[in-house]
Amino acid sequence: MSKQRILTGITTTGTPHLGNFVGAIRPAIAASRDDSVESFFFLADYHALIKCHDPAQVRQSSKEIAATWLALGLDTSRAVFYRQSDIPEITELTWILTCNAAKGLMNRAHAYKAAVQANEEAGEDPDYGVTMGLFSYPVLMAADILMFRADSVPVGRDQIQHVEMARDIAQRVNHHFAPLFTLPEAVVDDNVAVLQGLDGRKMSKSYGNTIPLFLPEKQLRKAINKIKTNLLEPGEPKDPEDSTVFQIWAAFADAAETARMRREFEAGIAWGEAKKQLFELINAQLAPAREEYERLLADPGYIEQVLKAGAARARETSVPLLAQVREAVGISRMG
Ligand code: TRP
Repeated sequence: MSKQRILTGITTTGTPHLGNFVGAIRPAIAASRDDSVESFFFLADYHALIKCHDPAQVRQSSKEIAATWLALGLDTSRAVFYRQSDIPEITELTWILTCNAAKGLMNRAHAYKAAVQANEEAGEDPDYGVTMGLFSYPVLMAADILMFRADSVPVGRDQIQHVEMARDIAQRVNHHFAPLFTLPEAVVDDNVAVLQGLDGRKMSKSYGNTIPLFLPEKQLRKAINKIKTNLLEPGEPKDPEDSTVFQIWAAFADAAETARMRREFEAGIAWGEAKKQLFELINAQLAPAREEYERLLADPGYIEQVLKAGAARARETSVPLLAQVREAVGISRMG
């Protein structure tokens, strides 16, 4: 049996935070160690251009995300780790898919619909500020996925619709031209925690409530001290289920340590003490990777080299598949 192929992309617009680590990076790296799978992970820098028109930020984020995955121990001799923009076949495929994707399907994409709705509520033209990039975002994502014949695509809930659209487009092309593409499946892992941020809402860059993954030690301590708590005094029992401090604790601690902290909450641990212990737990776990991260950021030439080698491996798949696709749709040599 051939190996399950898992593929996922990371948009390069921000600095990786604890929520990204717990919800996406840690499970992806763990999964890539399984011998029965083949993993493709990439920096979605063309997707970054949709939301971000600041070149310095796109560059910096690409570097930080690559350094993060490498520092956390991604084994690039197993996983294929590359940058979307190093694979010209993806953008070529995007156009061919664009010509086979129903506009009506794209009209239903959540991100586009949300933008239109916000405009309507503000009394603006419905398409105010909407670029063709935003509108066609799911087609570029379909090309990312179909280009490598991915079987499963681990994503957050907000991305399920995009994977379904990729499936739809693949079916249409397979039916009309030739069975070129594997039909991908979105995989949402209910066992991984969706981490809460400083204010108790989901930790997300768009809420501005994140704790960056590799903050220097002092700043990490400060950030943890800013996590919102209630006014209960030391000695008063605290509800772990209702606490961001406890929720983050549980995402880093093992079962025994989680049970111990639960008892401490019930016994009325002071918030300051709980936060101190949380800092120590996270800091001890992340310190070695943080050191490696700093080292990698100071050596961007090395990161570049790793990504280039990943792209060469990725293109072993994308070049022949794109040739087949071109042939199938009628773009081919005359003699
Ligand atoms: N759109 C995804 C996100 O914002 C990132 C992404 C781009 C992706 N291409 C992909 C994820 C292909 C999975 C597969 O999270």
